[in-house]
Amino acid sequence: MHPQPTSHASGRVACVLALASLVRASSATYNTANASGLANSQLLTDPFPYYFPRENASAAKLFAMPTCNGVTIEDATIDELQSYMASGNLTSEQLVTCYMQRNFQTTEYIHSILEMNPDALAIAATLDAERKDGQVRSPLHGIPFIVKDNIASKDKMQTTAGSWALQGSVVPRDAHVVHKLRQAGAVLMGKATLSEWADMRSNNYSEGYSGRGGQARSSYNFTVNPGGSSSGSAIAVSNNVVPFALGTETDGSVINPAERNAVVGIKPTVGLTSRNGVIPESTHQDTVGAFGKTVRDAVYALDAIYGVDSRDNYTSAQVGKTPGGGFVQYLANSTALKGAKFGIPWASFWALADQEQLDYLLDIVSLLEKAGATIVNGTELPYYKEIVSPDGWNWDYGTTRGYSNESEYSYVKVDFYNNIATYLSELSNTPMRSLADIVQYNIDNVGTEGGTPGIHPAFGSGQDGFLASLATGGIMNETYWQALGFCQRTTREDGIDAALLHNGTKLDALLAPPDVAQSIQIAAQAGYPVITIPAYVHSLSGMPFGFAFMGTAFSEATLIKYASATEHLLASSGSKYQRKHTPPQWEGYLERVIPTVAQCTGC
Ligand SMILES: *[C@@H]1O[C@H](CO)[C@@H](O)[C@H](O)[C@H]1NC(C)=O
Ligand SMILES: *[C@@H]1O[C@H](CO)[C@@H](O)[C@H](O)[C@H]1NC(C)=O
Ligand SMILES: *[C@@H]1O[C@H](CO)[C@@H](O)[C@H](O)[C@H]1NC(C)=O
Ligand SMILES: *[C@@H]1O[C@H](CO)[C@@H](O)[C@H](O)[C@H]1NC(C)=O
Ligand SMILES: *[C@@H]1O[C@H](CO)[C@@H](O)[C@H](O)[C@H]1NC(C)=O
Ligand SMILES: *[C@@H]1O[C@H](CO)[C@@H](O)[C@H](O)[C@H]1NC(C)=O
Ligand SMILES: *[C@@H]1O[C@H](CO)[C@@H](O)[C@H](O)[C@H]1NC(C)=O
Ligand SMILES: *[C@@H]1O[C@H](CO)[C@@H](O)[C@H](O)[C@H]1NC(C)=O
Ligand SMILES: *[C@@H]1O[C@H](CO)[C@@H](O)[C@H](O)[C@H]1NC(C)=O
Ligand SMILES: *[C@@H]1O[C@H](CO)[C@@H](O)[C@H](O)[C@H]1NC(C)=O
Ligand SMILES: *[C@@H]1O[C@H](CO)[C@@H](O)[C@H](O)[C@H]1NC(C)=O
Repeated sequence: MHPQPTSHASGRVACVLALASLVRASSATYNTANASGLANSQLLTDPFPYYFPRENASAAKLFAMPTCNGVTIEDATIDELQSYMASGNLTSEQLVTCYMQRNFQTTEYIHSILEMNPDALAIAATLDAERKDGQVRSPLHGIPFIVKDNIASKDKMQTTAGSWALQGSVVPRDAHVVHKLRQAGAVLMGKATLSEWADMRSNNYSEGYSGRGGQARSSYNFTVNPGGSSSGSAIAVSNNVVPFALGTETDGSVINPAERNAVVGIKPTVGLTSRNGVIPESTHQDTVGAFGKTVRDAVYALDAIYGVDSRDNYTSAQVGKTPGGGFVQYLANSTALKGAKFGIPWASFWALADQEQLDYLLDIVSLLEKAGATIVNGTELPYYKEIVSPDGWNWDYGTTRGYSNESEYSYVKVDFYNNIATYLSELSNTPMRSLADIVQYNIDNVGTEGGTPGIHPAFGSGQDGFLASLATGGIMNETYWQALGFCQRTTREDGIDAALLHNGTKLDALLAPPDVAQSIQIAAQAGYPVITIPAYVHSLSGMPFGFAFMGTAFSEATLIKYASATEHLLASSGSKYQRKHTPPQWEGYLERVIPTVAQCTGC
């Protein structure tokens, strides 16, 4: 916002006049003794090592997190935070205060939170009172979290997918997942920044950018694509701005930011977590997922949010396929790897990885083998040549090949047209009723919304994604059904399931290099689950990349078992492939390039 100097000046004058009349009207006498004591007590005379990054300091000191009431909570697990609250060393109110201060300390650099919940401290205080009375609701009682800004909260916060177009709109209710987390006693601290409209609006854009949220950045490299579209959710967890977060995925938007910020990401089967109250992209692929620093932390979040919801009929598919008592019982140690059988879809996914990443990931594979796992190489997806783009993520790859009737984008853009209309129909207090309204808003407000190409640095192609969706009129024609059928068949029974049944050998999971975005794109089209754990960082960009497990529908229990077993193996064997060995370096924290660099070696 750049107000004219004149309006600044007149604003100040009006303000001074108002103050003067206030003073004249008052007859009270004031005690101004020790005025400078009060004033001086508010100064920060020794800003280091916390609130100002010290020039030339080493990474660990640049943005170190202050202790909380004397307790070190930087990189604390949720269990550790619970034990501090159980022992009385910390209250939830103190914890929320400390994470809010962590956000003040870091937000101008990484911008992971878009909006704070003004009621967070009051909610925490209520939960502290419950704990005092002996009620602890779940492992998340009193633990703060954030949700991506496309997940509705029926409170004082906005739900906008990062777009000013939805500012002030009133949602009918909490998203189901938010409701469940509130019931579990977690504290909704804020909304996470994201790529605007979860990347549906444009195909050439700055990942992590939105009109309302500005540019989210990774503390590993401030110039490159920080991962998206759930950028802020992953970045906040990675930088201790919050212990866990929720994001959403249609095609890579949970796993990609997780693996690019060295955190655990769980992208559940479509239908495990309700999408009610989530600003949609495609009913066929949207899913709500969780971010944590450890598999256990992310599983606590998943356990709180999964389940059947009458407002999202896809969730009925999970009946009989989910465990009683939650997924936490499947967390395992490295002994679980003995006898496990993992497949490597080499030509399908691995051959596309950057050589340096490949070397590190294969190092992890050999550790799994040493721990007693059987690795089967060459477990290909039968149609990989038709469905896996050799040139990076491409959700219109079918069209690139000359067959729009075999392209994911052919049905996603139709779904969006229809699904967004349904979402908008439940909002009040907004003129936005259709995709056409949003498109027009972005044109009318081109300066902030970049509605036409070449104007806004974050949206090089304007809103071509929205225009493509608008052009379909939401019509589910022959092309739509052929594309949907093709993508589902070649990624499900003739895809991931076929690879898992490799030559008659039943595999427990497929291993995938998630920075090869096409690999998680295939799981996205299938609606199948993926879990990524942190692997290492690239020498050229400093950016992290993950190691992923992929399975069939509703195989979360299996994936959680092996992801946690691998996490334990890497920790107990003292390997370098652990998050603690690759903390953010915060180098170049003053860099502000927009758009963030999407393609570069090792990025
Ligand atoms: C003056 O105020 C400061 C900060 O409020 C306080 O620490 C100090 O004790 C006060 N001094 C006196 C003499 O009251
Ligand atoms: C940081 O390093 C530069 C170059 O060596 C030096 O000029 C500057 O004084 C240093 N700043 C601090 C705060 O030490
Ligand atoms: C927690 O409080 C206990 C005493 O109440 C103390 O012994 C312990 O050191 C405290 N722990 C931390 C991490 O501050
Ligand atoms: C959900 O309901 C819609 C419309 O009522 C129906 O078309 C669709 O097949 C249902 N989906 C599932 C997975 O049950
Ligand atoms: C690993 O898990 C197994 C099975 O749950 C258990 O028997 C064993 O004690 C655990 N080992 C370690 C080192 O925690
Ligand atoms: C898997 O097989 C391919 C050849 O099909 C080979 O190039 C690659 O090195 C093998 N990878 C592993 C981990 O054995
Ligand atoms: C994206 O847009 C920018 C700015 O308009 C342009 O320079 C760039 O070439 C575009 N990239 C692609 C891949 O089209
Ligand atoms: C279906 O609609 C799309 C636009 O959404 C169009 O490109 C395609 O040609 C149509 N297919 C048929 C068979 O009419
Ligand atoms: C897509 O259209 C082509 C003809 O252009 C046809 O050969 C192919 O079978 C169609 N694909 C599907 C999945 O129906
Ligand atoms: C799978 O079976 C086919 C046909 O029997 C064979 O050609 C192929 O080498 C086998 N692949 C592996 C990796 O064992
Ligand atoms: C960020 O990534 C770019 C592109 O790979 C690289 O040139 C730059 O050196 C990296 N910056 C840091 C701080 O690693």
